[in-house]
This record gives sequence, C-alpha cells and structure tokens, in this order.
Amino acid sequence: MPGILSNPKADFDHIIVKRLHPTFAAELSGVDFSKPLSDDLFREILAAVTEYGVVVFRHTSLTDESHLEFARKFGELDDVKPYVKAGRPNRLKYDELFDVSNVEVDGTVLDPESARGQANKGNHLFHVDSSFNPRRAGYSLLLAHELPPPGMGGHTEFADTRTAYDDLPSELKEQLKTHNYIAAHSTHHSRKLASPEYFAHMDPRDYPMGRHYLLQRHEASGRMNLYIASHVHHIEGLEPEKSQELFDRLYDHAKSDKYTVEIEWVSAGDLVIWDNTCTMHRAVGGPFLRKYRRDMRRATVHDSSSQAWGLNEHSDVRVGLP
Ligand code: OGA
Ligand code: MN
Repeated sequence: MPGILSNPKADFDHIIVKRLHPTFAAELSGVDFSKPLSDDLFREILAAVTEYGVVVFRHTSLTDESHLEFARKFGELDDVKPYVKAGRPNRLKYDELFDVSNVEVDGTVLDPESARGQANKGNHLFHVDSSFNPRRAGYSLLLAHELPPPGMGGHTEFADTRTAYDDLPSELKEQLKTHNYIAAHSTHHSRKLASPEYFAHMDPRDYPMGRHYLLQRHEASGRMNLYIASHVHHIEGLEPEKSQELFDRLYDHAKSDKYTVEIEWVSAGDLVIWDNTCTMHRAVGGPFLRKYRRDMRRATVHDSSSQAWGLNEHSDVRVGLP
C-alpha cells in the first residue's frame, strides 16, 4: 500500500513520520538529540511509539549517558546488577545498559559456540523482552555503537501483534476471550528451542516462569494485543498437545510476512525504540557473527501498565543468567 507508506501523519508538530509498513513501524526525523528535548516533543515521540509500536531514529549521536537520560523519560529502567552479582561481568560502563553485542569484555568477537553465544541464539526467535522475569519490559531502546560492514547481516525484524490479533478469525478471538488463557514464559525454553543440542540436558521446568495473560488490552493505545513470544513454554489449563497447537497457530500467524518488517541498521548512532507490550522482535543474524563486531546497547524500561507483573509475585528476581 504505497499510498499509506508515503503519507506522513499530519497530527505531529515536531516530528516527521515515514511509515515503514502498512500497519506499524515508522522512521522518525526532526529530533535533535544533542539538545534537551521539550516536553511537547517527548509527548509526540511517546505518541508515535504508542501508535507505531516500533520507531527508528537515524544517526542520533547519542552517547551511553544521553541514551540513558532519554530512556529514563519513558519510565523506570531495568538493570543488569543481579547478573553482575552472579558473576557475569558487564563490558559496559552502566548497569542500566544491557549488552546485546557479540563483543567480549576484552573487545574480541564472541564465539557463537561459547556459552553466551549459545544463549544469544534465542534472540533469533521472535520474542518480547523480559516476559520471563517477574516484571516484564515495556519499552526497549536499542542503540547501535558499531555495526558490521553492509551486506553482512545484523538486521532486526519486528512483528505487529496488535494487527495480528485484529485479523484472527472471529471464532478464535471468541475462544481467546472466553478462556482468557495464561501463558507461562521461560527464557530457558526459548534458548533450548534455538540451541537444542547445547541445552539438551536443561529442563525449563526446573526454573521459574513468568505468567501473563495471552490476550491483553494494550493500555496505551486501547487496542487488543496477543502477548506471545518464543519464551512461551505452555498455555495453562491445556493438555501439552493442545497448548502447543494453539501456541503454534497464534505465533505462526503473528510472525507471518503480513505482520513483519525488517529494519536495517545503517550507521552507528541509529536508535530503535519498540514497545514490547504490542510487538515482537528478533535478531536476524548473518555472516558477520563470527567475524565482525556488532556493538548494540539496550536500555530497558520496566512496564508500568497494570499488566506489568502479569500474575507473578512482585520480586527483584531476574531469570536467565547464561
Ligand atoms: C534485544 C534484541 C535484537 C538485535 O536487544 O532485546 O532482541 O537485533 N535485539 O540485536
Ligand atoms: Mn530482545
């Protein structure tokens, strides 16, 4: 639908919106990140994230510090302190930056067959961030610091789970509404799916899971959303086969071509913000993995909607130390 794609929304005063897909995802311009952002401008950015689910800013010139300062405007930040305490050193200067790179603490390229490399393979499946923790992630702000050469891969793909829900056949929508299913999310499960041999002897059921309703209202936009991810180990109250069947049906539908868009990282300074409570995403991978550094740093904003904790007990526990 090129008409829609080239037609920027008229109701923003400060930002220019270029749509990247007929139903979600947009590239925003007109923001100078080297200056303090006015409240009006921030409100427009937030409104765009709410509407599009995924927004891209090119060559922002953000630093670790200004990246975090910008992210804090969206809410309270998650941090990696529990992982550092448990013995995984952080390459990055701030504990509020999640290291999503393939770079080792000494600067060398991560071996994809190493423990962290194996765990990272889970990122290649469509997921939402932190649905396995007691408090899920709301927004993620991923900033590129160093990228592989063009043509070597490293893109990120997104899926529009609100529109995927809208398009479900009405009897399936009714089934979801009537049963109000709860899904159990486990990072151990998705890692095992992505790397079955390496994790052959690990049983996700030995670890805590995050419990969330499968069908939810995305409060910021008022639209319904399918809150699914590769992390879903099972749907409660269904026999394993039925659970798998329903999950596969919804997940395969949501990640089909109609609801997905691939975003290419063009230069260091590119920033992508997504709302984990109305989209999924995945790392596409590519030949760069063994050869070139891809230094990506993520600020993760705790969800502050009424569904932030799902059906979980409120605690500081974090799951999933590789
Ligand atoms: C993340 C993530 C994908 C990528 O940062 O949460 O899944 O392409 N990243 O690095
Ligand atoms: Mn992620």
